[in-house]
Amino acid sequence: MADLDDLRDGAKFGENIAQKTEGFFLKGCNNLDWGMKDRMSRIFNPDSGRSVMLAFDHGFIMGPTSGVERIDLTILPLIEHADCLMCARGILRSLVPPSSRKPICLRSDAGSSILTDLNHNVIIDVQDAARLNASAMAVMVAIGDADTEALTVSNLYNAVDAGQAYGIPVMGVTAVGKAMARDARYFALASRICAENGANIVKTYYTEGFEKVVACCPVPIVIAGGKKLPELEALELAYMAIQAGAAGVDMGRNVFQSDAPAAMIQAVGAVVHKDIKPAEAFQMYQDLKQLADATK
Ligand code: 5RP
Repeated sequence: MADLDDLRDGAKFGENIAQKTEGFFLKGCNNLDWGMKDRMSRIFNPDSGRSVMLAFDHGFIMGPTSGVERIDLTILPLIEHADCLMCARGILRSLVPPSSRKPICLRSDAGSSILTDLNHNVIIDVQDAARLNASAMAVMVAIGDADTEALTVSNLYNAVDAGQAYGIPVMGVTAVGKAMARDARYFALASRICAENGANIVKTYYTEGFEKVVACCPVPIVIAGGKKLPELEALELAYMAIQAGAAGVDMGRNVFQSDAPAAMIQAVGAVVHKDIKPAEAFQMYQDLKQLADATK
């Protein structure tokens, strides 16, 4: 039986103090449920409203491409500097320590490789994403590709339905086919279609006129890094995207294929969270690289 001795009446009701009703810090997310907001807050830093996501899901299509041959040797040392990790479930279960406490953006579609046509993917079971405590599910969409547009949009749509049931946000990843123009008009179209179908985050590519891509997308956008660039150029890319309104980066090759990946991800972090200009971030990269080289 409950202990009812000395049951005291409450006295501190704060009748004259209105309860605060806080807005949520990410655009388009105010009406999400608590679990969704909790997961979004793990991915995006509530102080800056931004995220450095480290993408190392490349092997799910490309196999052991440069930089991800040995995730344990090349990627794990970087994860302390990332806000969120993007990978496929096999790598997550086999190599990523659960004790790292990093939010996971789980690659949640599968079915393609570089040896066949891309994007004939199906989505994984949301219950497995829930078992893995995923903070988001990433699903690729191929807008403008006649063969796979409908399938990949329905993948996204179904992932959103499933994610909604478990409180797991979905990130729509805009694929770029060979025939598609990499311009603001295309990325605005692809990003908007992701958001209209319920994506809570959109991952796309930076391009000239990116302000328009961001402005017409009602949810946060992060950019992919794309192919490896010289470090200064990659930092410029991140800077321009952030200044145009991106909520972060989901970068892979420009980090793990760098000469100094740990220095690079920290420099990217300074651009993303502190609005550091590219030249200063590049200096930071060089200083950290020199330090790492000296202790080798
Ligand atoms: C591809 C992806 C990859 O994770 C992403 O493109 C990797 O990042 P980067 O381009 O920076 O290597 O989502 O669909």
